Amino acid sequence: MTDLIRIRRPDDWHLHLRDGPALTDTVAATAAQFHRAIVMPNLVPPVTTGDQAEAYKARIMAAAGAAPDSKVDGARSGPSKPFLPLMTLYLTDTSKPEAIRTAFEGGQAVACKLYPAGATTNSDSGVTALERLTDVLEVMQAIGMPLLIHGEVTDAAIDIFDRERVFIERTLKPLCQRFPKLKVVLEHITTSDAVDFVKAAGPQVAATITAHHLHCNRNHMLAGGIRPHYFCLPILKRSSHQTALRIAATSGDPKFFLGTDSAPHAVEAKESACGCAGCYTAPLAMQLYATVFDEMNALDRLEGFASRFGADFYGLPVNDDFITLKRQAWTVPDAMALGAAEIRPFLAGQTLGWTFETDTADSNQ
Ligand code: DOR
Ligand code: ZN
Repeated sequence: MTDLIRIRRPDDWHLHLRDGPALTDTVAATAAQFHRAIVMPNLVPPVTTGDQAEAYKARIMAAAGAAPDSKVDGARSGPSKPFLPLMTLYLTDTSKPEAIRTAFEGGQAVACKLYPAGATTNSDSGVTALERLTDVLEVMQAIGMPLLIHGEVTDAAIDIFDRERVFIERTLKPLCQRFPKLKVVLEHITTSDAVDFVKAAGPQVAATITAHHLHCNRNHMLAGGIRPHYFCLPILKRSSHQTALRIAATSGDPKFFLGTDSAPHAVEAKESACGCAGCYTAPLAMQLYATVFDEMNALDRLEGFASRFGADFYGLPVNDDFITLKRQAWTVPDAMALGAAEIRPFLAGQTLGWTFETDTADSNQ
């Protein structure tokens, strides 16, 4: 049995850090494990311009500098390289192709995020009809700028458990036909339909998979009581979909890579009559992924999923330092700080079989 694995330092290809006082905590949690992260732009107001992305990046970097070493057992060591946020722009109905080209070519943003208006947290300024973005998408295709998609329809007539599947049929397939060279990441996939779509598409289409969708299905959230800390969007699906995700993530197929979608909300915003969507997984991300890969007898494939395939898709080098994961019981803290507020991490109080630590030995591979 493998009790210790050493892999190249991973990156998180889908992350919410929020803003303001929360940044100190959210950035420290991610920087303890990952070197880079694709940072979501769904702030209030959203990050729509290159200048806004640059200013947000500066706030994140400042928080990284100020961040104390993580005090969480199981994520003890600090990173050996400074955390590098990779910024994204939030698309709206009025996004302008030349401004997006300038932000990409000037290094202010690496990708654009498509939120269908009303699909999820802070998506009110999102896109109401993709036809409005034809000129933007043409430019993105031409310059090789990835489109990161929250893949759910917002049609009130569509059942919430069907919204990803219907989005793929109604929106994503036609989009990929109209823009066959556009780089697309279908974010946080939750269904076997999404797995099948991504596998059948060309190499320009990939997907991120969260740790919580690998760990849970909708029974975890709803059977025996309603558990708001399992509520996220796209919502957890039935176990057959969870199984399809676990097989895809551990298959070694480079189209599937790590994106936590760690999405912090204070305790009172989750434990409410109308609770917010999002699971805070950043402080325990690699412990969660290692547990699943272990259960699937695929620990030898964790490095590809966590540390190689995303970098390859974005055309970036892999990291040259390493982390170590150990088979060792570790209990997730009940509560953590989120600025002045308190947050319950995903699986709070539960015991995982893996711990995380940064490997400080030199790279020679
Ligand atoms: O669960 C989610 N939380 N899904 C999203 O798409 C957004 C995120 C957030 O920002 O809280
Ligand atoms: Zn997200």
